[in-house]
Amino acid sequence: MSTSISTKFKIEKVAKSRFPEVDFENLLFGRVFTDHMFECDYVDGEWRNPTIKPYQPLTLEPSTSVFHYGQAVFEGMKAYKDDDGQVWMFRPDQNQQRINKSSKRLAIPEFPKEWFFEALNRLLVMDSQWVRKGMGNVVYIRPFVFATQPAIMAAPSTTYKFMIILSPVKSYFRGEVSVVVAEHFSRAANGGVGAAKAAGNYAGQFYPTNLAMEDGYQQVIWTDDTTHEHLEEAGTMNVFFRINDTLITAPVSDRILDGVTRKSLIDMAKHEGIPVEVRKIKVQEIVDAAEKGELKEVFGAGTAVTVSPVKSFSYKGKDYPISVPEQSYSALLKKRLLDLQYNIAPDPFGWRYKVSEENYQ
Ligand code: COI
Repeated sequence: MSTSISTKFKIEKVAKSRFPEVDFENLLFGRVFTDHMFECDYVDGEWRNPTIKPYQPLTLEPSTSVFHYGQAVFEGMKAYKDDDGQVWMFRPDQNQQRINKSSKRLAIPEFPKEWFFEALNRLLVMDSQWVRKGMGNVVYIRPFVFATQPAIMAAPSTTYKFMIILSPVKSYFRGEVSVVVAEHFSRAANGGVGAAKAAGNYAGQFYPTNLAMEDGYQQVIWTDDTTHEHLEEAGTMNVFFRINDTLITAPVSDRILDGVTRKSLIDMAKHEGIPVEVRKIKVQEIVDAAEKGELKEVFGAGTAVTVSPVKSFSYKGKDYPISVPEQSYSALLKKRLLDLQYNIAPDPFGWRYKVSEENYQ
């Protein structure tokens, strides 16, 4: 992966780390942040002043355009530490490309690739103690960019801020996941921003997801906005279905996020000799398979959730429990993925990325 030498970064270190104060055994997802953050401003048509500084609040005017029009996109990545203390990332090139793709769709200027990688490497080297050894310990990386112009005309901002913050996490969900298939609400529409990691895509899901949670489900599986007949993705993850021995997932589209975990699992499953179909999936097909006992597994895949088995789904008021067989695809693929990410197993795909000072010195 290419990196380049830059002398432009301004670095300001914390006087005292907050690390000793953190209860790492009881982390809620995304509530604790490491000592440092990255910040860079887009002003007068260029990105300027890449800076790493202590994690701290921002001061913004009430008129700041992101508050009014939601011109913001983000990414989700993770850093892993192996038993020798080396920190790794997983396919960061994919997130770098996707944040710029998302930005383009939201009329946000693209962020330079070299600075994206320099910022990640520098931050993770500085805060490397926060990436703890041991399977399940991980630092979630949140790059994001938002409109900063103090102006409430409904137009693209002339200024932006690109930031990266880091959060030590364990698992995303507490316990097993049950989902409800959407019959009324939609996450995305053709020609819309569903394929972008736009902040508003997530806000739009909160209300229907709250309704689902009131009924005891953790997530909604979104269906196509026109007919609600086809399964698409869940709020924080792409979804895989195993019917008999075949693994099926929906193709990416205008409405579905091109998930990095999703595409990695497709390749890994093929590598394992598992038959994989990437095609449209009708809700009725899954219901029929569940009724015939042919629906062996449903699982979500995403950076935050990794691989998350679904224990039941609900459709038209009826619950369909899923009893996962012993030879579970989700367990196998999760193990293969984590072993690769934690540098426990060889990486036949070339996906592991070594975090190092050599990448910016
Ligand atoms: C991720 O998996 O990184 C995501 O972006 C999901 C997030 C909304 C928690």
